[in-house]
Amino acid sequence: MKTEVLRIKTGSDHRDAVDQAAGVLRSGGVVVFPTETVYGIGANAYSDDAVEKIFRAKGRPQDNPLIVHVDSLNSIGMAALTGGISIEPLKTLWPGPLSVLMKKNPLVSSLCTAGLDTVVVRCPDNAFARDMITAAGFPVAAPSANVAGRPSGSDAHDILAELDGRVDLIIDAGRSKFGIESTIVDPLHRPPRILRPGAFAVEDLEKFFPGIVQEKFKIGSDEKPLTPGMKYRHYSPEKPLYFATPAQIIDLNRSDRGREFAYICSRELSGEIDGLRIELGSRENLYEIASSLYSSLRKLDQVPRKMGVIEVFPERGIGVAIMNRIEKAALPLGRAPKS
Ligand code: TXA
Ligand code: MG
Repeated sequence: MKTEVLRIKTGSDHRDAVDQAAGVLRSGGVVVFPTETVYGIGANAYSDDAVEKIFRAKGRPQDNPLIVHVDSLNSIGMAALTGGISIEPLKTLWPGPLSVLMKKNPLVSSLCTAGLDTVVVRCPDNAFARDMITAAGFPVAAPSANVAGRPSGSDAHDILAELDGRVDLIIDAGRSKFGIESTIVDPLHRPPRILRPGAFAVEDLEKFFPGIVQEKFKIGSDEKPLTPGMKYRHYSPEKPLYFATPAQIIDLNRSDRGREFAYICSRELSGEIDGLRIELGSRENLYEIASSLYSSLRKLDQVPRKMGVIEVFPERGIGVAIMNRIEKAALPLGRAPKS
C-alpha cells in the first residue's frame, strides 16, 4: 500500500486535508491523525472491515479493544449508551485527554471492542481530529499510532518511519502536545476508578469524579488487568532498557560498564554525567518530560550503544503516567547483565 503524507500547520485552514482524510475513512481506509495526546491510527468504528485494517497495520492482538473517538459531547450517543451515567463532568473535561468507559452502542463494531459490551470513548482536543470525525459522519476507532509493543507515536516523523506502507494517509501536524495517552476512567465502578493513568492527573479529575481511585497494576502479577491492554509489555525500544534513580545512574556512569549505556535523562542529570545522553527536558517540568518520552525511547535504537538506562521521575501529577510507561518499557537496573 502506498502511504500519502499531508502536512498541516496548527491554526491554519485545514479544510482540504479534512476532506481528504474523511474521504479515505468513508471508503474504509486507515488514516493516521493528530490528537493532543499521541497520534491515532483511525478507521470507521462501525465497520468490521475497516477496524480489521487497524489491527493489521499495528500487528495488535485482537483481544485488545480500541478507543472510539467522537467529535463532541453531543455525538456521544453515536458510540455509547449513556443511560445510567452522569455526563456532567464531560461538559468541562471534553474535548480533552480523558477517555471514558461506557456501555457500547450496538452499531460499534464488536471487533473494535474485542467482543466486550463496553466501549471506551474520547473527544480529542484537536480541531483537525474533530473536523475529520464530523466530515466522516461516524465515530472513529483509533489506537495509538505505532506498531504494537513499540513506543506510541507522538511525532509524525517517527510514525512515517514505522508505519509507511501500512496505512493509507498520514496527517503530519508535527509533535503532539502532551506526548502521552489519555487517562481512561471507569465511572460505572464504585468508586470511579482510573483504568490507565494519562495526560489528566488524578488531581485534575478528583473534583469531577468524587472519590476517584487509581490502582497500580503490575505486569506479571496474578491480578486481573483493569484493561485488556495492560497485560501486554508496551512502549519498548528494541534495545534493552533499564530504569534507575539519579544516584544509581551517577554510580553507573562512573563505573567501567557505564560506557556501554546511553543515558535517557533530565537536563539536570545530564549536566552531572558524561557519555551519550538523550535529554528529556527539565525534571522541574514533567509535561516537558512526557512530551519527549516516546521519541527519546525510539532514539535509543539509533545511537551507537548496546543498551539504555532511563531516569525515574516523581509519581505525582502527570509523573504517574510517565512512570507507568517507563515501568512497562524498562526493567529495574538491578536486573541488567553484569559485564
Ligand atoms: O490518547 C489516547 O487515548 C490515544 C489517542 C489516539 O486517542 N489512544 C490510545 O489507544 O491510547 P490505545 O488503543 O493505544 O489504548 C487503548 C487502551 C488499551 O489499553 C485498551 O485495552 C483499553 O484502552 N480499552 C479500550 N476499550 C476498552 C474496554 N471496552 N474495556 C477496557 N479497556 C479498554
Ligand atoms: Mg497504545
